Amino acid sequence: MAERYSKITGWGKCVPAKVLTNADLEKIVDTSDEWIVSRTGIRERRVVSPGETNSTISVGASRQALDVAGLMPKDIDLIVVATSSPDHFLPSVASQVQYQLGADCPAFTLAAGCTGFVYALATAHQFIATGTYDRVLVIGSEVISHYINWEDRTTCVLFGDGAGAVVLEASSQPGGVQSFVLGSDGSGAEYLIVRGGGAAFPMSQEMIDDKANYIEMDGRKVVRFAIRVMGEATLQAVEEAGLTLNDIDVLIPHQASLRLIERTARQLGLPMEKVIVNVDRYANTSAAAIPIALAEALEEGRIRNGMNVCMVGYGGGFTWAATVVRWGQPAEPVEWPMVWRFAPAGHRISMAASKLRLQVRQLADVASYRANALLLPLYTFAGRREAKSKSEE
Ligand code: ACO
Repeated sequence: MAERYSKITGWGKCVPAKVLTNADLEKIVDTSDEWIVSRTGIRERRVVSPGETNSTISVGASRQALDVAGLMPKDIDLIVVATSSPDHFLPSVASQVQYQLGADCPAFTLAAGCTGFVYALATAHQFIATGTYDRVLVIGSEVISHYINWEDRTTCVLFGDGAGAVVLEASSQPGGVQSFVLGSDGSGAEYLIVRGGGAAFPMSQEMIDDKANYIEMDGRKVVRFAIRVMGEATLQAVEEAGLTLNDIDVLIPHQASLRLIERTARQLGLPMEKVIVNVDRYANTSAAAIPIALAEALEEGRIRNGMNVCMVGYGGGFTWAATVVRWGQPAEPVEWPMVWRFAPAGHRISMAASKLRLQVRQLADVASYRANALLLPLYTFAGRREAKSKSEE
């Protein structure tokens, strides 16, 4: 098989409209804008309003990514959603995204904490490199605000909600994903954890009273871990891509703390002009942080053809991951004007087709149930006759 490359051909982001500033938090917990900004660089974050969920913001980001790629939902072969805050434990939020988008393809959710997006990108790359699929929609999406104890000042100032998405497409032209490094160290589980609600500590009154349904974090332990892995993972991914740090044009680190981002850049000897930072506006959106930052960097023209982009993340688990992507246009140019003109109508048609498929399936289910009910006496009669004739033999 000829070598297959996977390139990011579409990107988008969707953040809730509701802004929660540090001044707003000062009214809820004993904190200050000065403390939050000096420790983390965060000035404000977005939080969902009623009606907004992980799937709705995922769909918002995905539609943008599809529009940029010049694709319709039906063109997508696979959807992978990285998240730790899905709409439900069951079904997978990826299936909800597939349905709401109007796509007709497999979909699954992947959980690797804040590192999830790079894990998902690496997974999508495998499906493309092996020739299984040509176009994969990769989403990082979180609604962490529901897992925040808004009385705990040590965590509630740090997080925000949002979603980012990319389209990864097969290409015969060199470029795109060059390398990736994935890591996990489960011995760090307790330092960043939602203790309750899973099989280890199921939902119960005791669990709620214990406030175990909220994120708990040992910030200092997480900092120590992050300082170690961010530099190491970046270097490994750069080396595996056959490059040196001098070749990296843009670094997109996980957006949790400006201090940590600056420290990583210093450690690697990269000037801050090469580093994308938006933690001040969105705080830590976990698996959504890197794709949101990527989409913004592209919107601002900070990533251009031929550039080497390194994305590196760390998070709960502990987990970490890094990837190097060589930016390049897809082999086939997209027909922009046509796409832009018809995209909103196309999305409406895809959604309508999805609903129609559901209705047809429901009708078919009802028809088959009724038919079975009607045929049941016949089956019973035939069965009895068969049994009787056997006993007469
Ligand atoms: N406002 C005011 N004071 C506060 C606040 C707050 N919001 N939060 C904590 N404090 C207090 C503490 O109670 C403590 O007071 P004490 O000394 O009287 O006990 C004091 O500030 C210092 O607390 P530290 O925890 O030592 O503060 P530190 O300088 O370490 O900064 C921070 C805390 C910002 C959380 C830091 O540890 C950090 O950046 N950790 C990493 C966070 C991170 O990367 N998370 C991402 C993980 S992966 C994922 O995204 C899910």
